[in-house]
Amino acid sequence: MTIIVTGGAGFIGSNFVYYELKNHADDKIICLDKLTYAGNLETLADAQGNKNFKFVRGDIADREAVYKLFEEEKPDIVVNFAAESHVDRSIEDPELFLRTNIIGTSVLLDACRKFGIKRFHQVSTDEVYGDLPLDRPDLFFTETTNLHTSSPYSASKAAADLLVQAYQRTYKIPATISRCSNNYGPYHFPEKLIPLMIINALHDKKLPVYGKGINVRDWLYVEDHCAAIDLIIRRGTVGEVYNIGGHNERTNLDVVKTILKILGKGEELIEFVTDRKGHDQRYAIDPTKIFNELGWTPQTKFDDGIKKTVAWYLDNRAWWEKIISGEYKNYYAKMYDNR
Ligand code: NAD
Ligand code: DAU
Repeated sequence: MTIIVTGGAGFIGSNFVYYELKNHADDKIICLDKLTYAGNLETLADAQGNKNFKFVRGDIADREAVYKLFEEEKPDIVVNFAAESHVDRSIEDPELFLRTNIIGTSVLLDACRKFGIKRFHQVSTDEVYGDLPLDRPDLFFTETTNLHTSSPYSASKAAADLLVQAYQRTYKIPATISRCSNNYGPYHFPEKLIPLMIINALHDKKLPVYGKGINVRDWLYVEDHCAAIDLIIRRGTVGEVYNIGGHNERTNLDVVKTILKILGKGEELIEFVTDRKGHDQRYAIDPTKIFNELGWTPQTKFDDGIKKTVAWYLDNRAWWEKIISGEYKNYYAKMYDNR
């Protein structure tokens, strides 16, 4: 089978490329990625030598380029990871999120209509459900929870989900959608909570915790997410949405303290800063459907996954040092100086 993986030079997409090359040695993987600030060819260095892997630089919102790729490669499956993915950036500048996340998805869907496809899979997020209150630990997101978005990022992802469902119903595109909770693991871009805190702590720099640090996220080790998507594209039912998450809820403060403990650093590094606008309180996934239908369960517990992740950042300094010494410096100053 030929699988186009869009956004495969980013965090989860690259982990998925490696997952597929390892577990499906007969499949051909084509990574389509624009290489935005979040895309990194060095992340794919170990895949480049594989005869079943090909990298194509391109924009999912570029109709001509996408159609050309479909015509040439005749993919059986498309897995769409490509997106602007950072909530804080979407609050600063929403427009690019609409172009990539909505228009980009529509162009891919049009290509599927025009050239035919066995499966289009949309990698979505639990953020489309909005948030849950902190004082109701009994509540979880299920696949039938209403869409109720908070940020331009989550609104753009929800719009894309609705488009996928519309194309599935109207044009019979064989599509599936997955909505996953927060991922962590290797190749996570330094702007996100976990890598940012690891890297700052390593430099004895302040750890900027938004608000009081009481917001809750439901953490999933990235390889478990990849395994779930792999099952959905091969055995999931067309037209269905699958929630992915492993009941690993933690407050942000807990996560930051855990990282400090692993690194042997003191909690005096923690600094409470101005909260994110519209900050979602709690995300929590009910993964019953994917467990019952596809037998998926997460393999990595948070306490093990976070240790593995810290070890990865210690072992792969060159990967992130290059990132944080470039344009990222301006981003960091803009977002955190005088916050
Ligand atoms: P990321 O920001 O690390 O990577 C995004 C990748 O997409 C980059 O390689 C970038 O170059 C590429 N890209 C961006 N715009 C593009 C365009 N117009 N055309 C082609 N490529 C483009 O993101 P991530 O954290 O790996 O997230 C991947 C997907 O998973 C996203 O769709 C995101 O919404 C979803 N998701 C992420 C999480 C998470 O915790 N990170 C959880 C659930 C769902
Ligand atoms: O839930 C899935 C989503 O998880 C994905 O759809 C998004 O693409 C992904 O970026 C992630 O979104 P979050 O906003 O939850 O992740 P982030 O790492 O940006 O923040 C996690 C929590 O940590 C959130 O409550 C905000 C807080 N935070 C974040 C940063 C960057 C801080 O307190 N300080 C920080 O510096």
